[in-house]
Amino acid sequence: MPQRPLVRPGTRMLNHIELSYAPGERRLAKLLLQGLGFRVLDPQTDDRPANLGPAATPFLIVYIDPAEGDVFDNVIYASEALADQWRFEQAMRERLTNDAALAELHDAYCSAHARMPQAMTHFGIAYPSGEEVEAALERIAKTPELEGRVTLSRVYRPGEPGSVDDRVIQAFVYTDVFSTNLLFGGQQIELQVRLDGA
Ligand SMILES: [Fe+2]
Repeated sequence: MPQRPLVRPGTRMLNHIELSYAPGERRLAKLLLQGLGFRVLDPQTDDRPANLGPAATPFLIVYIDPAEGDVFDNVIYASEALADQWRFEQAMRERLTNDAALAELHDAYCSAHARMPQAMTHFGIAYPSGEEVEAALERIAKTPELEGRVTLSRVYRPGEPGSVDDRVIQAFVYTDVFSTNLLFGGQQIELQVRLDGA
């Protein structure tokens, strides 16, 4: 049995994130994850590395660090929403279409991410530099398939308007292409660079 390549063996650390996307949107989810700068392996179409278990087939395997190959730590998995989730999502979408007051509340909730991204729920990914964060935002903005499906924040640098902490550069991507929970609520991702030294 090969040794698990833990950087910090025995410590507790963030391990993986599990996302779902809508039926038929596997390619779109892959495009956004690649736009964020991750390496995406699709076991359904790509060569399967030896360390990929048999249960991996439904999932996109997303290496947050493109140079790494660990399939357990520092990874994201993304798979199609299962029937129970999707039926609920469709029922909610239909209700939103027919209930103006509910739709207004939904719009207010979604648009709050653009107004105050730091205060809304999200998961955060560490990036090596502000330039890489800007490059990710630019890749996403220039992907035509993602138009209307993502909201990109500005890049918050220390001392600039909206910056909340001088120790970090932050930017945010809000999307309904994938989510750790329900897609109609959307998912926000923080792209963060630490400036407080090693
Ligand atoms: Fe955050």
